[in-house]
Formats: sequence, structure tokens, C-alpha cells
Amino acid sequence: MQPFATLNASKANFDDIYDQPDPRAYFAVLGALDYVIPDVAEPIIRQILAARRKCAATEATVLDVGCSYGINAAVHRFPLSFRVLRRRYVHPQMAVLSADELARLDRNYYASWPQISAARFLGLDMSGAAVRYAVAAGLLSTGIVANFEHSAPTLQERRSLREVNVILSTGCVGYVTERTFRAILGCTDQPPWVISFVLRMFPYTEIAAALDRFGLVTEKLAGATFVQRRFRDVKEFTGCLTTLERLGIETQGLEAEGRFQAELFLSRPRADVHAAPLAQIVKVVSGRDRTVGTRYVRIGRGSEARVMGVTS
Ligand SMILES: C[S@@+](CC[C@H](N)C(=O)[O-])C[C@H]1O[C@@H](n2cnc3c(N)ncnc32)[C@H](O)[C@@H]1O
Repeated sequence: MQPFATLNASKANFDDIYDQPDPRAYFAVLGALDYVIPDVAEPIIRQILAARRKCAATEATVLDVGCSYGINAAVHRFPLSFRVLRRRYVHPQMAVLSADELARLDRNYYASWPQISAARFLGLDMSGAAVRYAVAAGLLSTGIVANFEHSAPTLQERRSLREVNVILSTGCVGYVTERTFRAILGCTDQPPWVISFVLRMFPYTEIAAALDRFGLVTEKLAGATFVQRRFRDVKEFTGCLTTLERLGIETQGLEAEGRFQAELFLSRPRADVHAAPLAQIVKVVSGRDRTVGTRYVRIGRGSEARVMGVTS
């Protein structure tokens, strides 16, 4: 099997925007490429955490691997989306602020939204700047700056990882391999649930095998792929199609239409899989972002529920 580093060579390099003191460049550059994976993953993550709550007594303590500026935490904890946040960060008035001023405003901004999830988020990323921002903005309760591909968790990191009971990643497998998952699983007090959105060009086999050694059974959601973003240019497009086709993956109707596609993998203890297989706990809704006119939504449940019309 080809190493991820070789497969990654066909993808454009965005290292410069991953390590800025705030997320403006990240939203500008990836937003312009219609980066949507945090938004398409979010309703799925919410359903998976709801299913986990039925099997576990504890609320989720989520480790977002490759958390970057804490975007998965933002869109899960608050009624926000990558699209809405992008508008904030590319606004011309935002461009003149220092990173510190922006972090201060962002802390107030996120704190001003109602929390729509009880999950707590920890983040792991090799970018110290991104993790520091995510903690300063109040998105992560703990940030871990580390690269477990190259070094083992320190004592302090091991302590922080003990309480993790859900591991999540979007857009990060490929940069990280089974080494990172092994390092994290070696620190948690209990076997976590592992939710991974993975581009089709990165085989999940070795990660699933590593998780199996910790007693976790991996399922892939059949019949659904999740758009990550548009290809940046012809070079990336043709390079990735070639990589996929060499792996024997049919791209017609998917990547050949111009967008990276990710798949969903969920790994859990065997008893949890038997209680409710992945296909039973996740419903994929197509076209949810296509509405232009007013739609009706229900906020809350039972006698507290309110029906409202919203126009997006
Ligand atoms: C495409 S971004 C995804 C960020 C976020 N999950 C999202 O979907 O918006 C990939 C992230 O992986 C991080 N990364 C790359 N290699 C890593 C490693 N070995 N360990 C931890 N993080 C890594 C990068 O710094 C970057 O923040």
C-alpha cells in the first residue's frame, strides 16, 4: 500500500494557512474553494453523538484531531456553519484588526450564541498558532499542540487525553496515519468512539486495523459520500483523479465532477455496533442547503418547542 505522504503529493499544499495566528486566511482560501466538510459532517456527528448517549452514561468529551482553528467545535456547539463564519472572517472591517483584537471579539462572539450541545471539545493539531487561537476564542476547553506521527504524547498530554471518549476528524486523515490514532488510544481511560471523514484517496485499512487492536470495530457508511471542497486547479484535479484511478476507485459522477469526496468511518466497541449498526443511527439528508425561501423549523422539544419560519 502506498504511504499517505505519496498519495498526498497530488493534493494542493495549504501549510501556510494552517499556521496563522487567526483563521482569516483559512476561511478566505478554503472558503473560496467551497470547503464544506465541517458543515456536511456536522449533522452526522450530531446523530452519532445522540446514538452514543444511548449507550454511555457520560456526555461526550470529543478530541478533534487536526482541529485547526476549532471549526468543528464551533459548528457543533453553536448554531453556526462554516459558510456563516466565512462571511464574518472575510468582511473588510475584519481585515484591519490585529490577531489579538480578533481573538477578543471572537471570544465574545462565540459566547453570545446559545450552546446547542453539551459535548466538550479538546483539540489536537501540530499548528500551535491555530490551537492557541481556538482556546483563546473559547472553542476548545483544552488544546494539544503535538505531532503524534513523530513523537509520543508527553505526560501532560497523556493526562489531557485520558477523559476523551470520542475522537473526531475532518480533513485530517492523510496528514495523520494509524500512528496518531495508536498514540491517542494508548492514553484514553475507556475505548472511545472514532468518527472519521476521510477522502477516498486515503485507504482507511491500516487505521481500522490499529483501532481493532484496541477492541474497536469499524463500519463504513455505505452509499454516501461527503463533499470536502472543489479541486484548486487543473493540476490538483487531474493528479487526484489519477491517484484515485490507480487505487481502482471509480471517480465518474463523484470526483470527476470537480469535488473531493470523503467517506464516513465509525469505530466502536463491538457491543455498541451490535446494539445499533451505523446504517441505523445515521440519516443522510441531501439538498438541505438548497432552500432559498422561508422554511419552518422547530426549536426545542415537547411542551417547550417553538415553531419558527427562517429564511437563509
Ligand atoms: C484541512 S485542515 C482540517 C482542519 C479542520 N479539521 C477542518 O475540517 O476545518 C488539516 C489540519 O491538520 C493539521 N495537521 C496536519 N498534520 C498533522 C499532524 N501530524 N498532527 C496533527 N495535526 C496535523 C493541520 O495543521 C491542519 O490544521
